[in-house]
Amino acid sequence: MTERFDLVIRNARVATASDVFDADIGVKGGRIAGLGLSLAAGDRELDARGRVVTPGGVDAHCHLDQPMAPPVRMADDFDSGTRAAACGGTTTVIPFAAQEKGQSLRAAVADYHRRADGKAHVDYAFHLIVSDPSPTVLEEELPTLIAEGYTSFKVYMTYDDLKLDDGQILDVLSVARQQGAMAMIHAENADAIEWLTRRLEAAGRTAPRFHAHARPMLVEREATHRAISLAELVDVPILIVHVSGKEAVEQIRWARSHGLRVYAETCPQYLFLTAEDLGLDDSYKGARCVCSPPPRDASNQRVIWDGLNDGLFTIFSSDHAPFRYEGDDGKKPAGQEVPFRHIPNGIPGIETRLALLYSEGVLGGRITLEKFVELVATNPAKAYGLHPRKGSIAIGADADLVVWDEGERVLRNQDLHHNVDYTPYEGRVLRAWPGITLVGGEVVWDGQFHPRAGQGRFLVCGKPTLGPAGART
Ligand code: URP
Ligand code: ZN
Ligand code: ZN
Repeated sequence: MTERFDLVIRNARVATASDVFDADIGVKGGRIAGLGLSLAAGDRELDARGRVVTPGGVDAHCHLDQPMAPPVRMADDFDSGTRAAACGGTTTVIPFAAQEKGQSLRAAVADYHRRADGKAHVDYAFHLIVSDPSPTVLEEELPTLIAEGYTSFKVYMTYDDLKLDDGQILDVLSVARQQGAMAMIHAENADAIEWLTRRLEAAGRTAPRFHAHARPMLVEREATHRAISLAELVDVPILIVHVSGKEAVEQIRWARSHGLRVYAETCPQYLFLTAEDLGLDDSYKGARCVCSPPPRDASNQRVIWDGLNDGLFTIFSSDHAPFRYEGDDGKKPAGQEVPFRHIPNGIPGIETRLALLYSEGVLGGRITLEKFVELVATNPAKAYGLHPRKGSIAIGADADLVVWDEGERVLRNQDLHHNVDYTPYEGRVLRAWPGITLVGGEVVWDGQFHPRAGQGRFLVCGKPTLGPAGART
C-alpha cells in the first residue's frame, strides 16, 4: 500500500535548473517523497493551480548579526534576517562567522552559533571569514573546521580589519586546495582605495557619493586579476563574490578562456542600482546605497545581465548587509553624518533578491526560469556542498519550496520583514512575489509570516559539487 503523504501540492508548474514541467509534489517527513501526475491524497492538500513552484532560494552571501565595531550594529539578527528571508522565498541562508584579527577561528564559529541558536526560521550554514591566518589557523583550525562541515571561507583584499596580503591569500588558498574547500574572494585593491580616499578627503569630497569615486572599476579589475593569478599559482578553484561590472567580468572571462576554474557571484545592486543612487549632490541620503564594490552605471548593468544569461555568473546572492539609516548604530554612526570612509558598507536585500530577479529577469525575458533556479538555488547549494538536499525539487530533497504569485505590486519597505528602515528599491514595480514559502514542508509565508524560531536547522556542508566554471547545468 502506498504511504500517505503529509502534504500534496497539486497542479504545480515545477521549475528546476534543468526543466519546467507539470506535476504534483508529495511531501513526507519534511522531504519530497513524490513527484508526478495525480499523486495519491495527502493529509493536507495545497492547490498551486498551475502556478510556478521553484526550490526555495539559497542565499549564499548574506550578513546577519556579524559583530561590528561599536557603535555600529547590524540591524538584522538570525530572527529578523531569516524572517525576511522566508517572506522573500529564501529557505536557506549562509552568513559569515567572521574571525577578528587575533581571535581563534574556532571561537568565532562558537560565537556565531550562539548568535543563531534558537532564532532561525529557515535552515542555515556558515561560511568562515579568515582575517588572521596564523600558523594555528592554517595548520589546525581551518583544516579541522573544513572537515567538520564549514567548507567555504571568504577572504578580503580590502578593509583594514579584514584584509590579507598576497602571501596570506596564497597561504589560505593552499589550505583550500588541500582540503577541497571553496574560497570566496572580495576583490578590491586596498592601497589604491586608501590613496584615492585620502585625496578625496584632502579636497573636502567626503559626501556618500564619493564612496564610488574612491572605488572605481579599475580597483576591482586589478584585484580580480590578482586573485585569479594567485589561485592559478596554487592551482585551486575560487569564487569571486559581488562582481559589479564589465572590467571584472572581462578578467573572469579571460581566466575561463585559459582553463581556470573561476566562479563568479553577482547581486541585485549591480542590476538595479547605479552610482547615482549614492547621490547626485552632497546629500547624505546616498549613504543608504553605500556598499562595496559600489553600483556602477547602466552599461555595466547590461554586462551583468549578459553574464547572468550566458553562464559567466554561477550564483546570484543578496550580499544583505543590513544597517539602519536613522538612529545611531547604522549609516549614521553615533547619529552623525560622517565622511564616506566611515559609513558602514552594505545594503539590505535578503527579502527582495528573488522577486527582483524573477520580475526583471524571468518575466522581463532576460533569463529563463531554469536559469533563475540555477542562479538563486541550485548552484549556491552545489557551490557550498548542500546539493541535492537543498536547491532542487527531486525525490529525497528537503521540501523547501516557493509557490510564485505573478502580478504587479509596488515594493514598499513597510511591507518587508527585515529590521532595516529602508529598502534601496522603494517604489519599484515588481511583477511577481513568493505567494507561499515552505521550509521542510511547513508553510512559513503565505502572505502572513508563520514564525518557527529555532526550527531552522544548522546545516553541515559537504564539499563543492559544481561542474566546470561557466558550464550550463
Ligand atoms: O558593502 C558590502 N558589500 N558590505 C558587506 C561586506 C562585504 O564585503 O560583502
Ligand atoms: Zn565583500
Ligand atoms: Zn558581503
